[in-house]
Amino acid sequence: MRILIVGDVFSKLGRESLERNVKRIRDNEKINFLIVNGENISHGKGMNQGHYKWLLEQGVNVITLGNHAFNQKSIYNFIDDVSNIVRPYNYPTEEHGKGFVIVNYNGLKITVFQMMGRILMNNDLLCPFKETKKLLEEVNSDIYICDFHAEATSEKIAYGYAFSGKVQVIFGTHTHVQTSDARILEGGTAYITDVGMTGPLDGVIGVEKEVILDRYFNDGKQRFKPQETGKSQFSAIVVEIDETTKKATSIKSLNIIE
Ligand SMILES: [Fe+2]
Ligand SMILES: [Fe+2]
Repeated sequence: MRILIVGDVFSKLGRESLERNVKRIRDNEKINFLIVNGENISHGKGMNQGHYKWLLEQGVNVITLGNHAFNQKSIYNFIDDVSNIVRPYNYPTEEHGKGFVIVNYNGLKITVFQMMGRILMNNDLLCPFKETKKLLEEVNSDIYICDFHAEATSEKIAYGYAFSGKVQVIFGTHTHVQTSDARILEGGTAYITDVGMTGPLDGVIGVEKEVILDRYFNDGKQRFKPQETGKSQFSAIVVEIDETTKKATSIKSLNIIE
């Protein structure tokens, strides 16, 4: 099976970029399964119901979130009722939504889950390494796919080694900058430190650069504003999994600037 995974879709330019590219790539790459990180899809923070429905219209099978999971308060109205949205698993307290979902594809049980890293993140989280071990013991599945939503490249690489051969796809999100280290780890795990962002090319990881520079130089009182003009980028990976051996056999990254 061939899986397309699209990195953090950021606000208007991200949605436009997704719409412009996803159908062609699905056809050309013969994609069977589509995962999109949607934590920034609504005005750069969170996902409202309209954008959730729009993602399904684009053919998305599973949506992952991240530290912005609950920024759009309206998500509380629907996240508990659906089975294709994944928020971080390792919250310290019981949260709305699900940390993993199980999807059936071609007779295979596919578990998609999300862990959040702890280094340079503001959240008081449970250990993503121990929680993953626990999850793998508790949830029986043919294929596991993990969105590791984290800031530090070192934590992400260590996580990749920790679960190579156990989790078939480990893709990093959150930094919004694609890394050039997509590879197959020992045991048949497709790995990339960060898929990158689908959104504005100009600006600072999605936000107008003036707002961010003001924070560095001055009092930083300018309001958060997504970059909504200029070029955009579509960042994704394509992974192939051998359905018989249940190992990942290839991974390639895509970064389309237009
Ligand atoms: Fe993000
Ligand atoms: Fe994030």
